[in-house]
Amino acid sequence: MLIMFMIRSDRPTSSSLYTIMTLYLIKTTFHKTLSPQDAKKVQSAYCKQVVSDIARKQLGVLPREIIFNKGENGKPFLKNFPSFHFNISHTKNAVLIAVSDSPIGTDIEIIRPYDEKLLKVAKRFFLPKEFEYIAIEEGRQSNRFFEIWTRKEAYAKYLGTGLFTNVDVMSFDVLNPGFNGQIKTFFVEDYVLSVCGAKIVPPRLWNSPPGGIFF
Ligand SMILES: CC(C)(COP(=O)(O)OP(=O)(O)OC[C@H]1O[C@@H](n2cnc3c(N)ncnc32)[C@H](O)[C@@H]1OP(=O)(O)O)[C@@H](O)C(=O)NCCC(=O)NCCS
Repeated sequence: MLIMFMIRSDRPTSSSLYTIMTLYLIKTTFHKTLSPQDAKKVQSAYCKQVVSDIARKQLGVLPREIIFNKGENGKPFLKNFPSFHFNISHTKNAVLIAVSDSPIGTDIEIIRPYDEKLLKVAKRFFLPKEFEYIAIEEGRQSNRFFEIWTRKEAYAKYLGTGLFTNVDVMSFDVLNPGFNGQIKTFFVEDYVLSVCGAKIVPPRLWNSPPGGIFF
């Protein structure tokens, strides 16, 4: 396991242990040896362990005090620590973990070619202006498709609703989001990652040294 990088927005003062937001993009190698379903299970358990380690350090508590719980639509949170927020996303060979001091949602996708299948998804689910945004940029359609897609997922996961519920996330304009928060997208190697939260101040980017670093 190797942390590829962290994107981190620090508080203006260094008086607090908390940072406003940290994104951990971690490369995993489970897919080489396991079926996709089993790899996802292992990724899931691994993410929980990482979140637990971060929470213990940030909150200064014992492992037994870290108890995971789930909201109505499945959004995980830590029981007893309402100001500690996190969100998890998995894709092939990588996981993304966002930690923040306010509600947060995040999504990572590996970029694949913009084929007929994705075109149909964009036509069916995206707003006309989002579809146009993808179509207009010859050669960058894949990047743009996954930019829109991950932004919608990150927004849904910020709200905690999921994508296809009674809250109409698909009609939410993720290119000009009109809500009391922000959505940011980052492209790293073959991945696109989006994060949605109350305030995402310009992040700094850490490349991990060989062997990886940990929080
Ligand atoms: C479940 C959902 C929240 C995300 O699903 P996803 O994109 O398949 O998976 P991700 O890896 O990005 O996220 C999964 C993690 O999100 C978290 N999560 C689950 N439900 C959540 C919710 N309602 N809100 C926020 N986070 C949630 C969990 O931590 C989960 O990981 P875990 O099971 O290991 O704990 C939801 O948005 C959904 O239903 N997505 C549909 C995806 C889809 O149809 N994609 C089509 C692509 S073309």
